[in-house]
Parts: sequence; C-alpha cells; structure tokens
Amino acid sequence: MSAPTPHSQQFYGVTSLLAAHPDMRRLKRRTAATHLHGNKLWGSAYLLMDYLQENPLPLGSRVLELGCGWGLASIYCAKYQQAAVTALDADPAVFPYLSLLAEHNQVTINTLTADFTAFSTEELGAYDIIIASDICFWDEMSETLFNLIDRAVNAGVKQIIIADPHRPPFIDVAEACIDEFFAELLPREVTTNRRHRGSILLIENA
Ligand SMILES: C[S@@+](CC[C@H](N)C(=O)[O-])C[C@H]1O[C@@H](n2cnc3c(N)ncnc32)[C@H](O)[C@@H]1O
Repeated sequence: MSAPTPHSQQFYGVTSLLAAHPDMRRLKRRTAATHLHGNKLWGSAYLLMDYLQENPLPLGSRVLELGCGWGLASIYCAKYQQAAVTALDADPAVFPYLSLLAEHNQVTINTLTADFTAFSTEELGAYDIIIASDICFWDEMSETLFNLIDRAVNAGVKQIIIADPHRPPFIDVAEACIDEFFAELLPREVTTNRRHRGSILLIENA
C-alpha cells in the first residue's frame, strides 16, 4: 500500500492522488480530456464506501460498478471486501486514472467501456451486486437508470446500491424504485477532508 504523502490522501483505507502528484501530472499531460463529468473524484463515492464499511458485501461477490469514473468505490470493494470487481464507464478517458489509482492501492480491477443504458438483462445477470455513485445528473438519465434497475432486478442481481448527493433526477429514480421495488433511500453524511451529504438507494432482490 502506498503511504499517504503530501500529494496523496487516504480515506476508508483507499489512497487517492492529488492533482500535484507527479503521476497525476504526467497522466494529465498525456491523456484525452474526460467528458460526462468523469474528470475528478466525486464525494458520493465516500458515501458508498461508508455504507459498505457498515454493511459489508458477501465474500467473493461479483460486483459491477456503473459509471465508475476514477473508480474509488471499485477499488474499495476489491481491497477490503474481497470482491471481483468490474468497473464500467461510457468514457474510456477515465480508465487511465482508475488504473493509476488501482496500482497505488495494489488491486486489480476489470474495466469495461460501455454505456450502461444499453447493458442487457443477460449481461447484468453475470453480477451479484451493482454499485454506483453520482451517475444520474441530467433529467433524461432518470428513465434510463430506472430501466436499467428494472433489468437488473429481472436478471436476479441481489443488491443494487447507488449513492447520490440528492440530485433531482436521482430523487425521481429513487421514488420510482420505492414504489416499484420496495427500495430504501437512506440518508448519509460523511466527512473526509470535506463534508459529503446525500443518500444511498438500496434495492434488495430477495
Ligand atoms: C459524476 S461522474 C461520477 C464518477 C464516479 N462514480 C465517482 O463517484 O467519482 C459520472 C460518471 O458516470 C459516467 N457515465 C454517465 N453516464 C453513463 C452511461 N450511460 N454509461 C456509462 N457511464 C456513464 C461518466 O462518464 C462519469 O465517469
């Protein structure tokens, strides 16, 4: 494990690198710009890690992270929950950052460039658990995320756990999931070097 340095930080046991870290500076110079907001670490990933720390996954779970960005939550699941993790994002420009952070945390994460709105029931059925953080930020994303959750439930995915800082399109999905799948919306607040507030949407598929 890389020890925290002036250019790195560690929360929930996961090391992340600051913009001034030499590896980050090198990477920024040579990689394409991200789009779809995959340009940094978003705080909701810490809400997810905090939830998983209190509610660990079954050992050896096959985990799919949707819209992983730089993949801190995936790294947490691989590092501390013995999960086999696939991190999916529509924007391939996020993966060099994920790989760098995985390397600093000494874990291996499978990566997949894909649009989760096009992920089939059959493809979703290969996973036990779906996790995500901050993936529903434009109005048009609500319906496609709800449809994805519906397919995942039909595919037999056991748990779907999505953290969010209460963006209105996410709240729409959460309300629909409460009605349709008896989901729970669990408020959560954590402090790292900043305060992060939001909720965990939990769908358990018994
Ligand atoms: C706000 S960022 C959050 C990144 C990461 N989950 C985090 O919490 O740090 C949203 C991420 O979702 C990805 N994304 C958005 N829509 C997507 C879709 N339909 N399929 C796959 N990835 C998507 C973006 O590329 C971006 O990396």
